[in-house]
Amino acid sequence: MEKQGIILGIESSCDDTSAAVVRNTTLLANVIANQSVHEAYGGVVPELASRAHQQNIIPVVNRALELAKITPKEVSAIAFTRGPGLMGSLLVGTSFAKGLSLATGAPLVEVNHLQGHVLSHFIEEPDKNLPHPKFPFLCLLVSGGHTQILLVKKPLEHEIIGQTIDDAAGEAFDKCAKVMDLPYPGGPVIDKLAAQGDVKKFSFAKPQIPNLDYSFSGLKTSFLYFLRDSVAQNSNFIAENKADLCASLQRTIIDILLNKLEKAARQIGVKEVAIAGGVSANSGLRNAVKAASEKHGWNVYLPELRYTTDNAAMIAIAGYFKLQDGENAPLDIAPLARY
Ligand code: KG4
Ligand code: ZN
Repeated sequence: MEKQGIILGIESSCDDTSAAVVRNTTLLANVIANQSVHEAYGGVVPELASRAHQQNIIPVVNRALELAKITPKEVSAIAFTRGPGLMGSLLVGTSFAKGLSLATGAPLVEVNHLQGHVLSHFIEEPDKNLPHPKFPFLCLLVSGGHTQILLVKKPLEHEIIGQTIDDAAGEAFDKCAKVMDLPYPGGPVIDKLAAQGDVKKFSFAKPQIPNLDYSFSGLKTSFLYFLRDSVAQNSNFIAENKADLCASLQRTIIDILLNKLEKAARQIGVKEVAIAGGVSANSGLRNAVKAASEKHGWNVYLPELRYTTDNAAMIAIAGYFKLQDGENAPLDIAPLARY
């Protein structure tokens, strides 16, 4: 296979170790090792995450290369997540990328994890036609650590037009799940339980935040106090109302997200609307965005579920665009916990 355009992507910012291989924008392999070690703790334990990355990185990269039928020498560039994320976790991916770059001579390119989520919309698959948003488009980026509305003007040019002033949407899912004693990460668990529940059963406070910004910490607090008071009256309250609690909470989070997204689309006058990040896997959010598209005549882009949560395919694609732009990273580059 020609060496040109083969990019190895490496993602290790949080608790998933992932490696992917693309030929230009076509995905050849995407391997993700999830870390189950955190389940017992109800959240990601940074020290355990970096140790698990160290155990996973070589087998995960090997598997990705094997699936893509590429040898290390055929890799023409290595794209890695520089940040934001957990420092210990980022160091594993960054150091591995540097080592491989030294060994093979393939240049490095650093990727911002959030930009990776946005650019996941440009992944192409050999056997499937995936739609790509047209520029400029709005992207609601909702992950465990971030909630932003971006106006994406070009692959590498965007403006943050709104963002959370406290917790992220994913954090709201995860923290509220923890209060209900649900396993970590809570988002997918709430999503599943919500399907059996009544979205109107309970109502929770919605924030009054100006402009296009978000806030989710008030919702978390009101959910916590509501449960505390209800459990004081009936110790079985959570067990008896689990599905309705999940449905009502999820509905509230989605309403908050959609309200500002609709406002942004109206203000900017853009009808191309995408969502990205782990929370974009949420079935309620996906349905709500589809419903909004019918109401407002938007063209909406919902990522394939496998590209919503953390993956190296999006890092490799982002690397592709940066290499096209002439970017390379030096070997003494350091990861950034905040980027
Ligand atoms: O993008 P991501 O994998 O990691 C970060 O960059 O943070 O996002 C992880 C977040 C977690 O908060 C998780 O609970 C949430 O995405 N998430 C979901 C769903 N799947 C993942 N939240 C709601 N519904 C889901 N189906
Ligand atoms: Zn992410």
